[in-house]
Amino acid sequence: MNNPNSSEENRGQWGSRLGFIMAAAGSAVGLGNIWRFPYVTGENGGAAFVLVYLACVFFIGVPLLLVELSLGRASGRNPIGAFKKTGGGLPFILTGVLCLMACFFVLTYYGVIAGWTISYAWGQVTQQTLVFKEYTANAMSVLPVFAVFIGLTIWIVSAGVEKGIEKWSKILMPVLFVMMVVIIARSLTLDGAEKGLKYYLSPDFSKIDGKVVLMALGQAFFSLSVGWGLMITYGSYMPKSQNIVTNGLWVASADTLVAILAGFMVFPAVFAFGMDPGAGPGLTFVTLPKVFAQMPAGWIFGTIFFCLLSVAALTSSISMLEVPVSYFVDKKSSARKKSAIIVGIVAFLIGIPSAMSNGGSEFFSELQLFGKTGFLDIMDQVFGTLALIVISLMLSIYVGWVWKPESAVKEIEEGCPWFSKPLVGGIAPSQVWSFFIKYICPIVISLVLLNTLGIFSKKDPAPAEPTPKEQTSPEDNASSESQ
Ligand code: PHE
Repeated sequence: MNNPNSSEENRGQWGSRLGFIMAAAGSAVGLGNIWRFPYVTGENGGAAFVLVYLACVFFIGVPLLLVELSLGRASGRNPIGAFKKTGGGLPFILTGVLCLMACFFVLTYYGVIAGWTISYAWGQVTQQTLVFKEYTANAMSVLPVFAVFIGLTIWIVSAGVEKGIEKWSKILMPVLFVMMVVIIARSLTLDGAEKGLKYYLSPDFSKIDGKVVLMALGQAFFSLSVGWGLMITYGSYMPKSQNIVTNGLWVASADTLVAILAGFMVFPAVFAFGMDPGAGPGLTFVTLPKVFAQMPAGWIFGTIFFCLLSVAALTSSISMLEVPVSYFVDKKSSARKKSAIIVGIVAFLIGIPSAMSNGGSEFFSELQLFGKTGFLDIMDQVFGTLALIVISLMLSIYVGWVWKPESAVKEIEEGCPWFSKPLVGGIAPSQVWSFFIKYICPIVISLVLLNTLGIFSKKDPAPAEPTPKEQTSPEDNASSESQ
């Protein structure tokens, strides 16, 4: 059901340009940047991966970000409403449904991991190093923090677009930045930090292969919050006077900057203490606490670091909850609070198996599907990896071929008149962008999809997105000895 302009006021709008940028950057900057980016970089060879990642962000991620923002602002709707209102047929409306599902289901396990960060922060304050494997296997430690995290998310989303999401993002994002600077200063001044810097900054191009490119692209989508329809919702709250292109570039740059900075926090410290940068998803939860334990006054830095992770996760999880909530608000504008509470509680309940899947319950830990073991990994594979590739593909096909780049360009021009003016060599940015959306994005994303489905290699289907459980054992066993 579309309510025409009448409810426009009640849907909510960003109060200012900075508010939009902070909220959208808040969504983009999350565990993906601070937890996932460093370990994926570590697993894929360091500096060379970083370069490929940057290319993916700016050549595929940013064009798609503009797709989502323009579709959202043109329609003023949630993802389902956006496809409907701009004339999308059933396959696209189903894509909108998939957007809502992806955000919702990712929230169910993202909240679990975010809960861990709260426990780890507390563990640093009380100077007790948690042993990852023991900690995650204990439902009584994991579930309460998961509940707290979802509770905070519900609270902020209930307060609305401007008074909740925008206000808190404007507070939390600068806090996050300051905390990062403190940790980086500490990390770079450790003895032996140069080795980490060298690993992170001098590329070895022989390390680039197909898998590295795929991982980089998957990481770019995950990190930018692109391919979830989320930026459709966030774009729908953007006033026409705002500039989609510069706003989008700010968001992408802030997200990239935080990811790059996360590397400067992690690698110098990891190398200074002789740890393995390729330790995988446990790099944050297993390796870093050991690093902190060896630093003078390390618990202070440890506390700051894990608080930072919790904050980054919170500004992302509110955006995930906002997408399904925006659907209900578009149906009935007074439904915000109630739907935030109900959707949040259901997300918590559906997240329980994920919370129990790192040892808490044998059944959920050993469940196997789509080449993944454990409920959390399976959810991540289906919604955090496959769904977003499908959505990105459908989005580029929709805007490239159905809704047409011209319609999107018309929307983008409002607030950004230079978008369709010839700039360099008589070519307008809009022309380059249209070409990317029509040809480059669908082709590249199709290749990624085929690869993820295991079409290219029968043996090693989906390298995408492992989770902390996969490689924890050796590290953990070692760490149970320490302190
Ligand atoms: N981009 C977020 C991160 O880097 C994750 C996220 C995905 C947030 C999808 C919202 C929607 O952690």
